[in-house]
Amino acid sequence: MCDDFTISMPRIGDKAPEFTAVSTQGNINFPTDFKGSWVIFFSHPADFTPVCTSEFMTFATLEKKFNQANCKLVGLSVDGLYSHIAWLRTIKEKIEYKGMKNVEVNFPLIEDITMEVAKKYGMIQPGESSTKAVRAVFFIDPNGIIRAIIYYPLSLGRNFEELYRVLIGLQTADAFSVALPADWQPGDDVIVPPAGSCGAAKERMEGKQHDVKCYDWFFCTRKLPKEELEKNILKK
Ligand code: BEZ
Repeated sequence: MCDDFTISMPRIGDKAPEFTAVSTQGNINFPTDFKGSWVIFFSHPADFTPVCTSEFMTFATLEKKFNQANCKLVGLSVDGLYSHIAWLRTIKEKIEYKGMKNVEVNFPLIEDITMEVAKKYGMIQPGESSTKAVRAVFFIDPNGIIRAIIYYPLSLGRNFEELYRVLIGLQTADAFSVALPADWQPGDDVIVPPAGSCGAAKERMEGKQHDVKCYDWFFCTRKLPKEELEKNILKK
């Protein structure tokens, strides 16, 4: 049997599915309204729930840092607009958590009562819940292409340092034509594209390529200092 839930799982490299929606910051035409910016489009299971509240407070606190990296945040749940508004007001007026208080969520939170958008983005995963979105995170580039996707279950809050690392990693890979090794952090060495010929492989192994360190002919790194990233990506 094939139902609506299984047919729509956007993949890395796909164009972000288009939609129009109502949000806490007005109407949204997605992804057109965000052309030229990176977007983290994420879902949460439900308003007025504890894990989601901790996530929204964290994301709102970090919003400026994401914006400085040319990235806008857009949230979604299958709740309605008035629930969203009431929840965000409660967060600002009443919740103090881990040193965060008086937190205002200024990024748009989309209402999706019909689940139309959530289904398009594979955010409803019936094995987990057929009435709530999972914690999906889509990284969409300035041309509207999906570049990374992470899904978390209902019970596990996201790691926002990792979301920032993924964003900066994608931007770094694009800007410097490099790849990034396990656990890469800004300032760490980066992986240079593989040698494209036997001659280049030999040169690398002979240490003839300045600034390139090879562990073997197919695995070579170079330095990419944080200051160089700061000039291009991590703008203060
Ligand atoms: C939460 O955000 O706390 C939550 C939401 C839905 C199911 C379980 C937990």
